[in-house]
Amino acid sequence: MFAVRYHRYGGSDVLRVEDVAEPHAGPGQVRIAVRATGVTPADWYLRSGMLRDVVPLTLPHVPGMDAAGTVDEVGEGVTGTAVGDEVFGLVPFADQGGGAAQYAVLEAWAPTPRSWSFEEAGGAAGNIDTATRVLEALGAADGMTLLIEGAAGGVGTLTAQLARARGLTVIGTASEGNHGFLRQFGVIPVTYGAGLADRIAPVAPRGVDVVLDAAGKGSLAQLVAIAGDPRRVVTIADFDAERHGVRFSRSQAGTSPGWAGLPVAAALADQGHLTVPLHAVFPLTDTAAAHDASATGHARGKIVIRVR
Ligand SMILES: NC(=O)c1ccc[n+]([C@@H]2O[C@H](COP(=O)([O-])OP(=O)(O)OC[C@H]3O[C@@H](n4cnc5c(N)ncnc54)[C@H](OP(=O)(O)O)[C@@H]3O)[C@@H](O)[C@H]2O)c1
Repeated sequence: MFAVRYHRYGGSDVLRVEDVAEPHAGPGQVRIAVRATGVTPADWYLRSGMLRDVVPLTLPHVPGMDAAGTVDEVGEGVTGTAVGDEVFGLVPFADQGGGAAQYAVLEAWAPTPRSWSFEEAGGAAGNIDTATRVLEALGAADGMTLLIEGAAGGVGTLTAQLARARGLTVIGTASEGNHGFLRQFGVIPVTYGAGLADRIAPVAPRGVDVVLDAAGKGSLAQLVAIAGDPRRVVTIADFDAERHGVRFSRSQAGTSPGWAGLPVAAALADQGHLTVPLHAVFPLTDTAAAHDASATGHARGKIVIRVR
């Protein structure tokens, strides 16, 4: 099959389209003929080698942590999914290779909502997993106010919509050019940076209950002060979390409390309550440009690779 791979850590120029061996669905997995795969900052963190001590990869490696497509193999023990079903889900990327390939294995999935294109579906699963995991960790519930630092990116836009669906008020930080974009999702936009508490106060007269740091730009001290307690703050991106008494939420291989969010999100999408805003779609042969676009740190929504 064809796939994008890299044989050594480095810049986006290490990415090559090659002919590689096909993966196969193991117990509890399905294999899909991939239509689209998402690009997340972790794809280029891993490719650059900066995470090699934390997440060692077997090289050569196929990037892409989530994908959408048509089921063409069903693993032992799988029920409720058949060859020919359209699904989106999470790729066990570290051991079996990722979604930037003709075929990929999924370890968690849900039916692709009728309202989503293959590109939207291809970039959805990772952010739904993360958003669900974080909302559970924060105890997010109807009537609460959630502040999302870095709300305009892939994780932020999905978390905001899932939180709104749970009945939360959502305040989100972004650069001013993204404020109109955030309002489309019912998010109250605020500019990030020094003095954030002063900008939050008028839009949250009863205060902020819980905070997600989805930016990792060193603002945890400020976010803890706004929440009033570090236990009300979760970061997915700031490795200084412990110093601030803040929990760091990361995806876990094999299982995640976020997996339960996939069918929930699909049902919301079918009811017209969840979209996957796309920053840009690149062809597979331009995977390097997709990684470089992510590395700017200013994606407005999700970056996706169309595989076929
Ligand atoms: N631990 C986990 O499980 C997990 C899972 C997924 C992602 N992550 C991490 O979470 C982070 C976000 O991921 P993503 O996929 O949402 O990234 P993304 O799509 O690239 O979005 C980045 C967003 O950050 C915003 N931003 C840039 N500078 C900022 C600042 N100083 N303060 C606040 N926001 C700022 C940008 O908004 P503007 O353009 O408006 O500046 C942009 O919308 C990354 O570091 C990623 O590695 C962790």
